[in-house]
Amino acid sequence: MISAGPSLSIRSLSRHHSGPTGVESFLEEYAAAYTFYGAGKVALRDGLAGLVEPGQNVLLPAYLPDAVVEPFQELGLEPRYYRVEPSFAPDLADVEQRIDANTAAVMSVNYFGFPQPGLEELQQLIEDYNCYHIDDNAHAPLSIDNGTLLGTRGHIGITSLWKLLPVPNGAVLFHNDAETIENFQPSPIAGVRESVDVSDCQFIVKSVIQNLLDGNGMIRESLDSMFALDDDETPAVGGPHKRYEDGKRMMSRLTEHILEESNPDEIRNRRRTNYRTWQRLLNDRDDLEFVYDSLPHGICPQALPVRAEEPKKLMAALQRCGAGGAYNWPRLSTTVLENPTYETATRLSKEIVALPVHQHVDASTIEAVAMRLRH
Ligand SMILES: Cc1ncc(COP(=O)(O)O)c(C=O)c1O
Repeated sequence: MISAGPSLSIRSLSRHHSGPTGVESFLEEYAAAYTFYGAGKVALRDGLAGLVEPGQNVLLPAYLPDAVVEPFQELGLEPRYYRVEPSFAPDLADVEQRIDANTAAVMSVNYFGFPQPGLEELQQLIEDYNCYHIDDNAHAPLSIDNGTLLGTRGHIGITSLWKLLPVPNGAVLFHNDAETIENFQPSPIAGVRESVDVSDCQFIVKSVIQNLLDGNGMIRESLDSMFALDDDETPAVGGPHKRYEDGKRMMSRLTEHILEESNPDEIRNRRRTNYRTWQRLLNDRDDLEFVYDSLPHGICPQALPVRAEEPKKLMAALQRCGAGGAYNWPRLSTTVLENPTYETATRLSKEIVALPVHQHVDASTIEAVAMRLRH
C-alpha cells in the first residue's frame, strides 16, 4: 500500500550512505541563518514576534490550511485572506485592495514543493507597501529554484521537515536578512531538545507497527481505527487551535539524528522519479488534470497534485488499487469556506487530490497501482 508519507525504518536509523550528505549541511550551504523548531507554525510566530505590533494586519492566501492562521492571531495580528487564482498565483488586484499602511507582512506559499506562481509581481507590491514578506515553504524543504533554496526568499521563511522525512516533528525558521536576524526573539521552544524522550519512543513504536502492517491491508484497516495509524497528511487531530498548541515543542532529538542520516539529493531524485512515473501513467486520463505542466530542475515535489473531476471517486479507486495515501488538500478555515469571495480557494480545496511521491515508494509500485487502476 502506498502511504501518504515516508515511515521510519531501521534503514533510516542506521548509517547506510557515505559522505557528509545530511540535511543540516544542505541547509548550511543554502541558507544565511536558520533555527530549528518542532512545527512550522511556531517558527512563524517566533520569526515575526520581533518585527510586528499587535493591531497590525497580515495578508495570507485563502488557499491555506485552517491552523496556519493561529500564530498570527497569537501575535495580535488581524489575518486577512487574499484570493488566489486557479494556478495558485495570488490575485494581485485583491492583494492590493486589502493591503494598507497597517499591513505588517504578506505571505506567499510554495505549494506542493513548487515555487509560488506570480511571486515577482507579489514581491513588487510588498516592496511598494514596505511590508515584510513571509516565504511559507512548509512543503518544499529540499526544493532549489535557480540556485535558491525555497523558503529563503522572503524576510523570513519556514519549512516543515516532518512533511518530507520520517520524523516525529521538525521545522526550520529561515532568517533571510540582517534586520530579521537582529530582531529575532526566540521563545523557549526554539531549537532541539537535549535528549530523546517518551514521544520519540512512541514515534518509533508507531513506525515499527506501521512498517509491519504495510504488507497486510486487512489487519491494517482494523488496527487503523483502533490506534489512529492513518496516513492523513496532518498527524495531529483536533481543531486548528489544538493542533497549533500541540506543535509547541522543541524539535526532537530523534529528528536531528534522522536529518544527519538523510541524503537530500537521493530524496529529491526519488521523489522526482515517482512524480514523473505517476504523470506518465495518468497522462491519458480525462477525469483529471495536472496542476503543474513541468517539473523544473532542482524541485523536490511534496506530492503530485491533480485537479480531479470526482475527487472522492478518484481517491476511493486509488485506495482500492493500493495507493491509500492519496489525499485531498487542504482543510480550509471556516472564514474562507463561508465567504463566496473565496470561491476559487474553496473549489480548489474540493478538487485537488495529492498523490504520494515520497522516497519510500518505488516507481514499480506506482506502475502496479496504475495498472490496477486501468483495469
Ligand atoms: C502551507 C502550509 N503552511 C504552514 C503549515 C504549518 O506547518 P506545521 O504543520 O509544521 O506547523 C502547513 C502545514 O500543514 C502548510 O501546509
